[in-house]
Amino acid sequence: MRMYDIIEKKRDGKELTEEEIYFFITGYTKGDIPDYQVSALMMAIYFQDMNEKERATLTKAMVESGDQIDLSPISGIKVDKHSTGGVGDTTTLVLAPLVASVGAPVAKMSGRGLGHTGGTIDKLESVPGFHTEISNEEFIDLVNKNKVSVIGQTGNLTPADKKLYSLRDVTATVNSIPLIASSIMSKKIASGADAIVLDVKTGAGAFMKEIDDAKELAKAMVSIGNQVGRNTMAVISDMSQPLGFAIGNSLEVKEAIDTLQGKGPKDLTELCLVLGSQMVVLAEKASSIEEARSMLEENIANGKAYEHFKTFLASQGGDPSVIDNTDLLPKANKQIDITAEQSGAVQTIIADQIGTAAMMLGAGRATKESEIDLSAGILLHKKVGDSVQVGELLLTLHTNIEHVEPVIDLIKSSIIISKDMVEAPKLIYGTITE
Ligand code: URA
Ligand code: CA
Repeated sequence: MRMYDIIEKKRDGKELTEEEIYFFITGYTKGDIPDYQVSALMMAIYFQDMNEKERATLTKAMVESGDQIDLSPISGIKVDKHSTGGVGDTTTLVLAPLVASVGAPVAKMSGRGLGHTGGTIDKLESVPGFHTEISNEEFIDLVNKNKVSVIGQTGNLTPADKKLYSLRDVTATVNSIPLIASSIMSKKIASGADAIVLDVKTGAGAFMKEIDDAKELAKAMVSIGNQVGRNTMAVISDMSQPLGFAIGNSLEVKEAIDTLQGKGPKDLTELCLVLGSQMVVLAEKASSIEEARSMLEENIANGKAYEHFKTFLASQGGDPSVIDNTDLLPKANKQIDITAEQSGAVQTIIADQIGTAAMMLGAGRATKESEIDLSAGILLHKKVGDSVQVGELLLTLHTNIEHVEPVIDLIKSSIIISKDMVEAPKLIYGTITE
């Protein structure tokens, strides 16, 4: 088999066989096929697309390029949730203990934040003592015991994706549905979950800015998951404005605690109930979405979800007294209030710009090597659709940096107030099961 022929075939819009797809993935991972030939193939895929069978085969080949996590020692159906990334997306912090509290096992492999997107591990590390450097054995024991554990990325997972993603990044071939879908799904499948709930975000703060693109990506990922034997569904949700009120690590931990106690922001609470119900049904702990939802609502109301969060944090070294007294979470020295310069209704809070502002305040990493300030971030007091009077509080910056003026300028340009009434945006744009 020759790489030249595979490139030519895809260039001419033909279907690649399983043997051809495995040939280039295996060869590229080993270093036998050069970047320039794979670049040409990526560009051919970008223009000619791949059918559903090719996409599933590509994903399987990437999964098999490295280690796969074996979660079979954990009893029950292991359900994972994956978000395509957003600003102030506090859902995982809430969902992990909430879903576990009704008996669905959550074995989560998570990452750190980069750019305007936060990472679950950074957020959890706001709780003093909490750590995710645990062995695979300990991870499995904890999920069997408490139904929930979070571990950092371990092992040599999907090396083919690592190489391909870096190559796509410099050859203008990131933005391709078959390539994005196979990239994301290969990592999820290699992490071992039996069932997967995808939260595909759309809007300014999302990877997919347009709703139609988000739907297409969701359909592509659901099709791949189901073809390779993992029960997969997707929810399309809004990311035009940040989710909830808090953006930043310890601020989001506090927001998660509020939400687990039934006092959280409306949009974050609703999204957690929607995603959580799907997870509980896929884990076969409820027979309908309605039943799953009322189980979750009950465990928020009776305090079980909140207690489960404490058990989970303590099981990985976290100090659970911080959960009862959130004043013990890392706190920034400076808190700067931003007020409205005119009266009206909040029309837009541009999610990606607010995410960038939070990063500049210290909450995120501009590069992989940047240090993070767990106390930094932004707390919104208004959301799109809320009415506001001149002089009223819009948001508060939490930071330890000296020069906040450029951040304040960015934030002011990210919030638009209209004189007319504004409707709050839709939170859920639909669900995709096949
Ligand atoms: N995120 C991924 O993991 N892969 C892509 O290709 C795009 C976004
Ligand atoms: Ca939030």
